[in-house]
Formats: sequence, structure tokens, C-alpha cells
Amino acid sequence: MFGTSSAWALSFQLLVVYLVLLSSLESSRAGITSTFVRTQWPSTDIPLDNEVFAVPNGHNAPQQVHITQGDYDGKAVIISWVTTEEPGSGKVQYGKSENRYDLSAEGTITNYTFYHYKSGYIHHCLVDGLEYDTKYYYKIGMGNSARKFWFRTPPKIDPDAAYTFGIIGDLGQTYNSLSTLEHYMQSGGQTVLFLGDLSYADRYTYNDVGIRWDSWGRFAECSAAYQPWIWSAGNHEIEYMPNMGEVSPFKSFLHRYATPYLASNSTNPLWYAIRRASAHIIVLSSYSPFVKYTPQWMWLREELTRVDREKTPWLIVLMHVPIYNSNEAHFMEGESMRAAFESWFVQYKVDFIFAGHVHAYERSYRISNIHYNVSTGDRYPVADKSAPVYLTVGDGGNQEGLAERFRDPQPDYSAFREASYGHSTLELKNRTHAVYHWNRNDDGNKVATDSVLFLNQYWASNLHRRRRLKKNHPRSSVVRVATY
Ligand SMILES: *[C@@H]1O[C@H](CO)[C@@H](O)[C@H](O)[C@H]1NC(C)=O
Ligand SMILES: *[C@@H]1O[C@H](CO)[C@@H](O)[C@H](O)[C@H]1NC(C)=O
Ligand SMILES: *[C@@H]1O[C@H](CO)[C@@H](O)[C@H](O)[C@H]1NC(C)=O
Ligand SMILES: *[C@@H]1O[C@H](CO)[C@@H](O)[C@H](O)[C@H]1NC(C)=O
Ligand SMILES: [Fe+2]
Repeated sequence: MFGTSSAWALSFQLLVVYLVLLSSLESSRAGITSTFVRTQWPSTDIPLDNEVFAVPNGHNAPQQVHITQGDYDGKAVIISWVTTEEPGSGKVQYGKSENRYDLSAEGTITNYTFYHYKSGYIHHCLVDGLEYDTKYYYKIGMGNSARKFWFRTPPKIDPDAAYTFGIIGDLGQTYNSLSTLEHYMQSGGQTVLFLGDLSYADRYTYNDVGIRWDSWGRFAECSAAYQPWIWSAGNHEIEYMPNMGEVSPFKSFLHRYATPYLASNSTNPLWYAIRRASAHIIVLSSYSPFVKYTPQWMWLREELTRVDREKTPWLIVLMHVPIYNSNEAHFMEGESMRAAFESWFVQYKVDFIFAGHVHAYERSYRISNIHYNVSTGDRYPVADKSAPVYLTVGDGGNQEGLAERFRDPQPDYSAFREASYGHSTLELKNRTHAVYHWNRNDDGNKVATDSVLFLNQYWASNLHRRRRLKKNHPRSSVVRVATY
């Protein structure tokens, strides 16, 4: 959100300047590989005694508080937290004015072990029947250790509902992670689309794995207790560690992070969909079966038929492994999902596919490779107006460092790429326009490192045609910009 109209004007000017720059470069379709020189902070985890991991005061005080959407349409939240000494109360008290908690809901309590680590008591409480576009205050815990938070429900599902999403992937718990989180919190984002790889606790062994899940929960609370984070799972959530006797995939993640999967008739918390304001958001699991006839494939086929662009114009897909990536890191890991789903993404005119995994930033042009089959020579991606834009935002700040080696030359499908830490924001303005920024950490908040005005894939197609007809030279800058 922009504090003043002059700040908005400045941002807009930057955007226009950038778009003009982008379009002149685009006429040759040469992508940009940023040569930005970044300040290197150590990619080491913040020590456990740092204040960002502080345990709240009081006997059995709730910690690691986080919320996520609790239903299909945004009138419910799931509130989750951990108590360590005893189970304590599973109740959430809430209401529409501060210190008047006249409503309540009762949650469930679970716990698990990981090697010899015993988790705290993990609470999940569904709070439903909420009103749209309303600030709610909530209280959890008992007596002197009770803690108070608030959140705001989204506007009702409407094609012109304005809403700002933040996009964060591969966050971890390093000093870079903290920088990303702080910058995101100043960005005006109202809900986080999280692209997998939360805590990187699996970089530890034995009991430290569980301990680093707990510290990450306390680290993310400053944002996640006040606005929903929409979760997707990455490879660091798998935690297949037979040497420690841990062979049940996603054990920590599934106990700690709830998703509203039943509301979209999914049978598994790792893939699901929600609708929020003017967006239909589909979350996929890169690490669950997805080939033809598997539950995830069957579910996605159904879910795509439920998308109603008249109600939710913006169709967004989240996954961990990018389908189009020109970094040496994880190159081609997304090919199997591309083979399974790309033709649907084009058929349904998906607006954006966000992924993480690669510890860098990259944006694609609208391209597809759906004509390829093993018996043709058509094996290269081609420009395709119906195709999504693929955005890799795996640059949250993880412990493994940046993925600095991009493939050379930059492939035609790659529009912009840079190996810096950061996050993105996606401001849906109305049914036709969305303003997108990628914000590199080193510049501080809201610097238009990569800013694009996107037109909706469903509603803006007529707009395209009209602009195209007005222009004599179809490759001129305005038209090129309009093709986003
Ligand atoms: C869960 O907590 C209960 C009550 O404290 C305890 O008896 C049980 O062993 C715990 N289960 C696990 C899997 O840690
Ligand atoms: C899920 O299935 C139930 C029962 O068939 C149906 O009533 C409900 O509308 C479905 N939900 C969605 C989001 O389609
Ligand atoms: C592969 O592409 C060729 C050439 O377009 C076409 O003749 C053939 O039917 C395709 N095969 C499949 C299995 O789609
Ligand atoms: C949609 O938003 C864009 C950008 O804010 C604006 O220029 C345009 O006029 C809006 N369209 C409508 C129909 O309000
Ligand atoms: Fe990853």
C-alpha cells in the first residue's frame, strides 16, 4: 500500500520508465540478466538465542502463532499455535473490536516425535462464519500467558476486488531470511503465497531438526499471526531421514501447518485451492505423484473446471519446482510436471505460475512447449499468448546460499533473471490490471527491480485486440507491453 499519493506517483513513474525500457529491449526479445552487485551476508542460520526466536513470557504461553485461509472463499481462518509445558486450552476467543472477544471456537491438539525430539502441543482451530473485509481480534492461551493478535478478512469474491499478495519462497532462518521478512512486512501485502521450503530444519540432524522447526515458527509469527500464509510444500519439507528412523514424508510440516484442502474437495493437504478476493489460487505438490490418473492429477482436472473467471479473473498456480528455469541449479527438474500439466495451464489461460526451489529470481515470457511430443521436432518453447508467465521466487534467504550460475546464453524464454535475495508483490487492481514487483533485499523496500504491468489472461484479451488494431506497428513498445 502506498502511504501518500506522491509515493504512489513516484512508484508509478518508476514503473512507466521501466516498462518503456523493458519494451525497447523486448523488441529484440532479449532477456535481461541482471549484473547487480549484491552485498553478501552470510548464509548461516541466526543463532537460537537471538531475539527473533524469543519464546513468549508466561507459563505455557502460545508460541509459533500462524494463520491460513480456512475455507474455499475466505470467510474462515485456521489459527495454529504451539504450547510446550502442557496441552492447555484449545480455544480461540475472537471478536470485531479490541478486547471484546465475544465469540469463541474450539480447536484440536496434536503432537509428534522426530527421532528423540518430542514436539510441543500443536493447536489448530478453525474459525469460520466470518464477515468479509472485517478486522477481527483474537486471543489464545490462558491467564497471564494469554496472547492477542488480529487479522483482516479479504473482500468478498468479486472480479474487481483489489487485493495485494506477497510472494515468498525458500525462506529459511538466516539474516537474509530476516531481511526478506522485514521488507515484505513493509510492502503492504495482505496475504503471503508461500512457495515451499519453510525452515530448512532438515539441514540439521537428530533433535535439532524439531528445534529448528520451532524456532522458524517463532521467527515467522510476526507476519503469519496477522495475515494468512498460503502454504505449499518444498523438498525441505520431505524429511525422509532413514538414518534417524524417520521415513514418513512431510511429518513435521503436516503436523504443524494446516491447509484447507477439504474445502476444495482435495484428499490431501499438500494440494488444494482457495479463492480470495479476485483470485483463484491452486496449490500443487511437486513431491507428490502427479502423472495421469494419480489423485493429484484427477483433482487438478476437476479443480480447473471449477474456475470461474467471471468471479475470480486471476488464476494463479503455486508449486515448488519451477517449470521454466534457466539457472544451473535445479535445471530441468520441472520437466516431468511440465509434461503432465502444461497443456492445461495453456488451455485454462493461467495468469501466473509461481515457484521457488531455485535460490534466485527469474521471470519468463509467455511461452509454451505443448507441441512437443517425442516424435516431432518441435522441441523448443514458442511464444504463446495463452500461456502463463512463470515466476521463480526461490530467493527468500535460505541457508544454502544463492544460485548464482545462470545458463549462458540466456534462453529465449527467460525475460529477467537475477541472483539476489528478495520477495515479490502482486497487486490485483481490478479484473484487467495487476501490478507486479520483484523487490531485491539490498535496495530496501519497494524498489522496482523488476516491475511489470500484467493484463488479465481472460478479461484483457479484447483490450489486446483493440490496442493492436490501433497500432500500425505491432512490435512497437505499447503493444509489446500489452502482451503481458
Ligand atoms: C503427546 O502428548 C501426550 C500427553 O502429554 C503424551 O502422552 C504422548 O506421548 C505424546 N505423543 C507423542 C507422539 O509425542
Ligand atoms: C465438494 O463436493 C461436495 C459434495 O460433492 C460439493 O457439495 C461441494 O460443492 C464441492 N466443493 C467444491 C469446492 O466444489
Ligand atoms: C506428435 O506430433 C506429430 C506431428 O505433429 C503428430 O503427427 C503425431 O500424431 C503426434 N503424436 C501424438 C502422440 O500426439
Ligand atoms: C483497472 O485498473 C487500472 C490500473 O489501476 C486502471 O488504469 C483501469 O482504468 C482500471 N479499469 C477499470 C475498468 O476500472
Ligand atoms: Fe527447494
